[in-house]
Amino acid sequence: MLDTPHPTPLAPTTDPFALAKALSGKHFIGGRYVPAVSGKTFPVVNPATGEQVAAAAEGDAADVDAAVTNAAEAQKAWAKMPARKRGALVYQAAALIREHVEELSRLVALETGKALRTESRVEANNVADIFEFFGGLGGEIKGETVPFGPDVLNITVREPLGVVGAIIPWNIPMMLMALKAAPALVAGNAIVVKSAEEAPLAVLRIVELVNRVLPPGVFNILSGQGAECGAPLVEHKLVRKVTFTGSVETGKIISRAAAEKLIPVTLELGGKSPMIVFADCDFEKTVAGALTSMRFTRQGQSCTAASRIFVQRPIFEKFVAEMAKRVDAMVMGDPLDEKTDIGTIISPGQFEKVKGFIAEGQATAGATGRACSAMPSDSALKKGLFIQPHIFTGLSKDSRLVREEIFGPVTVVFPFDDADSVLAEANDSEFGLAATVWTNDLKIALRFAHALEAGLVQVNQNLVVQPNLSYGGVKNSGLGKEASLESMLEHFTHKKTIMVNMA
Ligand code: NAI
Ligand code: MG
Repeated sequence: MLDTPHPTPLAPTTDPFALAKALSGKHFIGGRYVPAVSGKTFPVVNPATGEQVAAAAEGDAADVDAAVTNAAEAQKAWAKMPARKRGALVYQAAALIREHVEELSRLVALETGKALRTESRVEANNVADIFEFFGGLGGEIKGETVPFGPDVLNITVREPLGVVGAIIPWNIPMMLMALKAAPALVAGNAIVVKSAEEAPLAVLRIVELVNRVLPPGVFNILSGQGAECGAPLVEHKLVRKVTFTGSVETGKIISRAAAEKLIPVTLELGGKSPMIVFADCDFEKTVAGALTSMRFTRQGQSCTAASRIFVQRPIFEKFVAEMAKRVDAMVMGDPLDEKTDIGTIISPGQFEKVKGFIAEGQATAGATGRACSAMPSDSALKKGLFIQPHIFTGLSKDSRLVREEIFGPVTVVFPFDDADSVLAEANDSEFGLAATVWTNDLKIALRFAHALEAGLVQVNQNLVVQPNLSYGGVKNSGLGKEASLESMLEHFTHKKTIMVNMA
């Protein structure tokens, strides 16, 4: 299969429809585009119209074996290259990605339904930033000396793990792949990525771009279904590390399979992140912050979405009213239109799931669910997976809407009276990914920053993952960190100890 001739690299294009077609039927293995061994494909659908835009290669265990075997071979020479040189190549790849930001933004908007201006372009730029950041860290792959006496030399060295298997989801596919691939590669590993079945195109294009700079075989990608393609990747004997972002349920399956092989796993799973708003906050900034925190522009399809908002009672009514007013002013429509703020839900399955939560909330006695922002009127979008953002109040703390990750544009808001009770409520969740606190009282802010059970706490802001700052959850939100130098060393290398007796 690897004998398929390397096609001429696709020329840069800003027509996502043409590019989607051209990327059909391909994995990227061993430095070239290859079809699935079985020749099978599955449809990639534009969620804004319901139309098929591509047919992705449908990988299975045979494709996994080809990719992993090839990667294991290529990794040997890659690991011998000085780490700074590897970093320099990854840095060079960042420049190529930056040159293709416009193309990648349109492609990811087409396959995921995420609005171009508010989300997709931001994501593509972040991908270039992440490759740049890790590219600069090659020189940090180094060890220590431990003095035991003049006749003994004790040193530690950081070695790569081998072939890394990465399984990624569809919500920010390019960025989540970059957070795994860039550090894994700089650390001297080869990587095989299994893309999400809903969003296989933009990530495939990135792998091809990066391969223009890297030696063939170190960065590979397969498309396919979870059980048929993801599971064999985790189970392959030459895969020595698995890194995963997605649901808690799948994270546990992967963790069990990794335990059978005794290999390390990094898991970035779901969230139900609290946003705590004190009455003394900067009101304007905080209401605006609630909209960004809830990731309404990504239809709430974010693991850090502020999907539980607690507002101190004196400003509760005013806060909810102002939030609803501002969400109303957001434009829902064609993801590829620059005017659009909010695009679509990813897939019919997620659409039904989110609709189910909304219906349950609406049917709850005493609860109010405000539907905000107008549905798009364009008839071309009538089959699009659009859902109006919903803000729920009056729900009980035991409601499924309050306890489970909805992964849609639905938030629940509660009033609170005192700091102690809201802290207990905020921590009363199986998740522990992120949290935000909004106040001008430094004492309260710091007390909450320390006491909240979360991997990331932000005060008076809610930014997305930032390169250079460790990111990852506690409790059911995951295991391990991403995005930082320490995370690269901890999760993509092992420390070898060397003792030399010179006496
Ligand atoms: P999922 O966890 O099933 O899928 C994520 C990735 O895992 C995909 O590439 C999928 O093909 C793969 N996968 C599925 N089963 C597998 C298996 N047995 N072995 C190996 N790989 C497997 O998530 P899904 O079904 O897309 O979404 C369900 C829910 O998960 C969402 O509603 C949301 O709550 C949560 N989620 C959280 C994300 C996050 O950023 N933490 C991202 C996506 C989903
Ligand atoms: Mg699933």
